[in-house]
This record gives sequence, structure tokens and C-alpha cells, in this order.
Amino acid sequence: MKILVTGGAGYLGSITAKALEVAGHVPVVLDSLLTGPQAFVRERIFYEGDIGDRELVRRIVEEHPDLDATIHMAARIVVPESVEKPYEYYRDNVSRSLELFDQLLHLGKPRVVFSSSASLYAIKDAAQAASSTSNERFEVREDDPLEPTSPYARTKRMIEEVLEDMALATDLRAIMLRYFNPIGSDPDLESGIYAKEPTHVIGQLVMAARGHQPSFTITGTDHPTSDGTGIRDYLHVWDLARAHVRAVERFDQVIEAVGEPSVVVNLGRGEGVTVRELIRAVERVSGRSIRVTEAPPRPGDAVGAFANVDRAGALLDWRTELSLDQAIASALAWSDKRHEILGYE
Ligand SMILES: NC(=O)c1ccc[n+]([C@@H]2O[C@H](COP(=O)([O-])OP(=O)(O)OC[C@H]3O[C@@H](n4cnc5c(N)ncnc54)[C@H](O)[C@@H]3O)[C@@H](O)[C@H]2O)c1
Repeated sequence: MKILVTGGAGYLGSITAKALEVAGHVPVVLDSLLTGPQAFVRERIFYEGDIGDRELVRRIVEEHPDLDATIHMAARIVVPESVEKPYEYYRDNVSRSLELFDQLLHLGKPRVVFSSSASLYAIKDAAQAASSTSNERFEVREDDPLEPTSPYARTKRMIEEVLEDMALATDLRAIMLRYFNPIGSDPDLESGIYAKEPTHVIGQLVMAARGHQPSFTITGTDHPTSDGTGIRDYLHVWDLARAHVRAVERFDQVIEAVGEPSVVVNLGRGEGVTVRELIRAVERVSGRSIRVTEAPPRPGDAVGAFANVDRAGALLDWRTELSLDQAIASALAWSDKRHEILGYE
């Protein structure tokens, strides 16, 4: 198959492009290089430009009339920045996606796989949380209530709604994948996190384990979880990339099976891991001990959630194959290797 991958120079896009190649398919990358590094494009078919550039999308389809589907990953993705720059986030993520979808439809390319996010789910309130004592209560299913709390997350929900409505009214068909917390690199350590100062928990832990920062600070220790720290569902990015291969390979089958023109599917390991559990896992895998300090939650810090993955199993015949420890080992290995590819630590 030949697959258009928007955002294919980014972290997840470049690894998904590689998983497509490994499965014998041909990715065609469209990326503006707004954030994704040129080094992640490699020798792939590449168009530098914006998803909202209808003429460019037309040219891509004219030059690749055999495109079977689009994996739409291009987006601005930084939550605090989305609070400061709502215009840029709604323009790039929502308006330009709208132009992309309409143009794809117009050009007879109706299959879209969309990168959505677990950050759409409503946080379980105190009453729900108190109704059970285990971390199991933080599991979320695709039909659970949504409550996106940042402009970034709202753009993701809006695009889901756009796809749902366009799919009802037109030939467009959509598989919307809600990612939980992908970590690590591809098997050959060619792509990974490229932020100079990673702010997310695994990036911070990797820096602490490598001695690049003196300690790791847990923000929030009073959450209603088993140990008081936030809960997430970390999955190996290679498993996530493989799920996209399944989604494009089985696209029509999936849409037929659900009997609807669009569907949402959670992608996670289906296991909740608290921050303290993650710290222990990083210590175990790295063989280093990490000095930990504790602080109150930052504004907007949420207790978190983990994925119910029944639908991914049933529709995509997919589940994660790699363990948490393998994902952490991959993240550590990438952090040792990345200066060779990116030119910075
Ligand atoms: N990384 C995560 O943990 C995570 C979790 C949930 C969802 N997602 C979603 O997955 C997708 C990929 O995320 P990522 O972590 O690889 O991010 P990333 O920033 O590494 O990749 C996004 C890519 O899109 C490109 N881009 C941005 N705006 C563009 C535009 N208008 N036209 C063309 N290209 C544009 C950027 O240059 C970049 O290469 C995003 O849609 C993101 O919202 C990511």
C-alpha cells in the first residue's frame, strides 16, 4: 500500500513511516518541518509544506494516484503553548485539517486515520474515585465522558467531531486513534523524542537516570491512586506505530465491522502505571537510583487514566507486544544515541 503520512517528520510520524516500510508499504511524507527535524525524513518520499495547502495536496495525489489512505499526524502538540497561542493551535490543527480532509475527499482519497489523544477523557471525579480502592477505576473506554481541558486537547476533539460529521455526510471514512503515552524509539534507534529539554515525565526521568539533572520531582502526591501519584498508560512507540499499519491494512474491514462511517479506538497497553511505579521501573532498567523530591501538583496536572483496549483487539487485531521495561530501555537507548542524529544531547 502507499500511505500519505502528514507530520511524518515528527516523533510518531517518522516511526510510523518506518513501521509501514517494515510491513512492505510505501509512506509518502507531508510535513512543514515546523518542529519535526529534517533528519527524521531520511530517504523517504517527502513533500515539505502545509497540510492546509490544497494545491500541494493536489500535486501529491497527482504524483501518487495510488495512495490508499492518509495517516493524519501533523499538529501542534504542546499543551502550555496552546494556552498561550490558541489562534495558532485552532488555525493549524482545526482549520488546516478541515482543508486537508475536504481536499482529500475531493481528490477521491477518503480513508483517514487520525492521531487523537487520551487527554480528551474526563477526569474521574472524587465520588467515582472513592467508589473503588484499586487503580482499576482509572480505566477509560472509548464511550466514556470527554472533557478536554486545554486548547490543544480541544483541537483534537474538534477534529474528531469534524471527521464524525464529514463521514456521516460524505464518502470520507475515519479511524480515530486515541493514543495514551507512547515512549521509546524504533528498533534501530533512528527516531525518538527530539525536544532539547523534554518536559514530560519519561524525558525527565531519563535525564535524571543519566545524571543530566540531579533529581526528579514528583508533582502531585495526593491523587486518589494506590500510592497518591498520577497514573498513565505508557506504551512502546513501536507498538503504537504497528497499530497504524493494522489500521490502514484493515481500514475497510474495520469500518464495515462497526457499521458506522467513523470509529474511535484507544491505543495503550491497558495497564495503569503510577509515577512511583515508573520511577522504580526506570531505576530497574537503567541500574541507577534516582533521587526523588516531591512538590504539589502543577496547574492542570491530572490524576490520569489508562486505556481499555478491547476495541483495539477486536477491530485491529492489535495489542501491545512490548513490555514497559522494553519501552523504557528503548527511551534510555535513544537518549544515548540521539546526539549522533540530531547534533545535540
Ligand atoms: N506524542 C504523544 O505522546 C502524543 C499523544 C497523543 C496524541 N499525539 C498526536 O500524535 C501526532 C504526532 O505527535 P508527535 O509527538 O509525533 O508530534 P511532533 O511534533 O513530533 O510531530 C508533528 C509533526 O507535524 C508537523 N506539522 C505541524 N503542523 C503542520 C502543518 N500545519 N502542516 C504540516 N506539518 C505540520 C511538525 O513539523 C511535526 O513534524 C500529533 O497529532 C499529536 O497530537 C501525540
